[in-house]
Parts: sequence; C-alpha cells; structure tokens
Amino acid sequence: MSNMLGARRRLGLVHVVLVLFAAALLVADAGVTSSYRRKLEATVEMPLDADVFGVPLGYNAPQQVHITLGDIEGTSMIVSWVTANELGSSTVFYSEASPDPYMMELWAEGTHTRYNYFNYTSGFIHHCNLTNLKYGTKYYYAMGFGHTVRSFSFTTPPMPGPDVPFKFGLIGDLGQTFDSNTTLSHYEANGGGAVLYVGDLSYADNRPLHDNTRWDTWARFVERSAAHQPWVWTVGNHELDLAPELGEPVPFKPFAHRYPTPRRFAPAAAAPPFWYSVRIASAHVIVLASYSAYGKYTPQWKWLRGELARVDRAATPWLIVLVHSPWYSSNGYHYMEGETMRVQFERWLVAAKADLVVAGHVHAYERSHRVSNVAYDIVNGKCTPVRSRDAPVYVTVGDGGNIEGVADNFTQPQPGYSAFREASFGHATLEIMNRTHAYYAWHRNQDGAMVVADGVWFTNRYWMPTDDDDTS
Ligand SMILES: [Fe+2]
Repeated sequence: MSNMLGARRRLGLVHVVLVLFAAALLVADAGVTSSYRRKLEATVEMPLDADVFGVPLGYNAPQQVHITLGDIEGTSMIVSWVTANELGSSTVFYSEASPDPYMMELWAEGTHTRYNYFNYTSGFIHHCNLTNLKYGTKYYYAMGFGHTVRSFSFTTPPMPGPDVPFKFGLIGDLGQTFDSNTTLSHYEANGGGAVLYVGDLSYADNRPLHDNTRWDTWARFVERSAAHQPWVWTVGNHELDLAPELGEPVPFKPFAHRYPTPRRFAPAAAAPPFWYSVRIASAHVIVLASYSAYGKYTPQWKWLRGELARVDRAATPWLIVLVHSPWYSSNGYHYMEGETMRVQFERWLVAAKADLVVAGHVHAYERSHRVSNVAYDIVNGKCTPVRSRDAPVYVTVGDGGNIEGVADNFTQPQPGYSAFREASFGHATLEIMNRTHAYYAWHRNQDGAMVVADGVWFTNRYWMPTDDDDTS
C-alpha cells in the first residue's frame, strides 16, 4: 500500500512539474490561439436579387461608384462609375458649397473604357480625376448628366503632418457573401476615414467562366462606403483573371479596367499601377503587388528601394505597408506563399523601421509580435525569427468573409512570432492619435461592431520604439 501511495505521489509530482513546464512554455511563446468558435453555418454568397446589389433607378444611371486617391499627396480624388445603357457623360461636377448637382460650380472631364472577357462585355467604365482639392474638406459631387444624375460626397484627407490623427479601416478578401455584408456594416459602424484594402475583391473568378457580372455586383455592394471615402487598392490573386483556356491571356484585365490607382493619371513614364504610395494624415502607405515581379532589378524592386528613401518620418511618422500574400502567417492555408517576397524585402522594412505590414489572402485573423528574420545568410543557421524593436508588426486580415470560407487550419504549436490568431471573419481598424501612439483593433463579426476582440497600442518605430508588443 505504501509503495502504491509513493508511486501516486511521484506521479503527482511529475504531473505538477509537467504542468509547470507547459505553463512556462506558454509564457515563453506568449502567443494566443483563440478558442472562439465562429458560427457553423456555411458561407453563402448573397443572391443576385439582394438589395445590396440593386441597380439604381433611372435610364443609364451611374452605378458602382467608388473613389480612390489620385495622387500621393491626397489633393486629387479619382471618381469611377459604370453606365450600362450607353456611354453618357464622363463629366463630374463638384462643389464645396452646394449638394445640388445643378448648382455645383466645379467640374472635371473624365475618360471611359470598357472590356470584353470571354462572353461578357462590360458597361462603360468612367474614371474622372478631381484635382487641386483642399485638404480636410467636404466635397459634394455628381455625375450622369444628360440622363440620370446621382450625387454623393466625400471628405478629403487632412493635410499630411506628424501629429495629424486619422482612422483607417483594414479589410481584405471581402467577397460578396452575407458575412461580407456584416464585415462592411461593422466597418461602417466603426467609422474610419479611408479603407486600406489588401486585395481579393469580388471572387468573380470562382464562378464558371469568371462570371464578370460578379465584378458588377461587388462594386454595387461596396458603393455605400467606397463612394464616400477613398479605398486604397492592393492587388490580390483573385484579380489575376488569367485564363488562356478562355482566350484571356492578359492578367488583371477586369481589375485594371475597373480600379484605378494614383498612377492611372500620372505621366506615362511613371511607375506601373499596382505598386504605389499615398500619404494620408501622418501615415505614408506603401502598396506592394504580390503578383507582379519583385526580384532584384525588377521595376517594383527599384521603385520600393527609391520609395523607402523618400519616406520622411518627420512629416509622416507612420510607415504602413500593404501586401496581399502575408510574410508571417502560421495558417496551413497558403503556408509560406509570401516567403519569397519576405526574403526579398523584409530587410528593407526592418532597416526603414516600418510600423505595420497588413496582408490578406489567408481567410483568418493573425497578429505577430515585432519580429525580424533577416540574419540568415544560408550558412550561419540563423533562420528563426527574433524579437526586434526595429521590426514591424504583421497582421493578416484576409477575414472579410468571402465564399471560400474561414481558414480554420492553424499550424500547431503556435510559433513564437505569432501573438494572436483566430479563425473568424472580421475587420481591423488603425486609429493614429499622434506621432507616437496608434490604437489597433480587430473586430470579429460575431460581436457587436464596437467590441474589440484583439486590441493593441502601437508606438511609433521612429519616434518611440518601445517594446509595445508585450501584450500577452
Ligand atoms: Fe488571395
């Protein structure tokens, strides 16, 4: 009996030691894999007769209205829309003073384009650049003159400056399901001033023959936000629409026709359109293209090298980078797809003390610690990410809610670089307060819009490079 008791005590002691050891490991890794369970219902695309896809009333009424910044400084805004019946007018009238379309005293002449994709012919796609706008100013604007006129308004970003506050929405991989609609509604309730969109828009390419009518429905769906504030576009793999078997050998055809970037109205000698920068308030935002060449000596590589040298942290302290395919993701889906771009560019971002890298692609949420993995040189064995005050935080917000569903396949155990991860749909916001502090928050769709499921105060890497990632 005493031997059995002794054995039990020894087993109990071993058990306690194992529990303590496991607890120590958890503290050391300091990562959270949220056990929150999303709803179990399948992700369902909204039907074509859903109200969010409604075609505006009136002959040749402008539809799919969206705006994006027209230059790096934020004093131009590109207005885009589609007319379905006939070409109509490409003119935009606009005004600070009058919401009445027929009293607007300013105007700009746009251009139009259209395209064929297999058996689909697009409507007339208009793009009109409004230039020389004042900072932080509300403008009314209208288009469709000659047929059905529709009017909207937007507020230009504030003048760039080191302590100018601004709130961004961070959305990726939205699609057009009921979950997508929840994501957009929650973002609208949270009230950002511009969306940093990290790629994969309509998922039209998931439909037979890349059904391009789903590009139209998607644009009508997001109009309620994208007509009133700039969405900054990053290109994703679902924008490729590369289908030689359908006689469509040109990549990015629908996206390039529909979604301009600030380069569209730049001189022809300027950089190609899918990688570019914008400055908004106290942030310098660099947009990278995961599916355009980025190897050494390529145009994107040369451009990024030059652009990082042009970033002025005294004027715009926050350096934010957008990319579609994540460099740090511990999800089994798309695992390491962003690795070659990380190898190419991570050392530049660490050297530049970038604050935040936002990615999509993986349909789940994840936030990293500030880690760097730039020491490896093939022979030295230093191939593990290490904590670094110079490094950005990497977030993946490919959780917008598209038809492909949640990526519920995290690798185990959670790697040390991963601070928080959860397989749910949602969106994030980044609220910059001044040159030193910004509040980052991730919101899951199952909560009320104002509930923060993962919130962190970031301190600026240039002005206040503290250990702000010791959050768990
Ligand atoms: Fe993607």
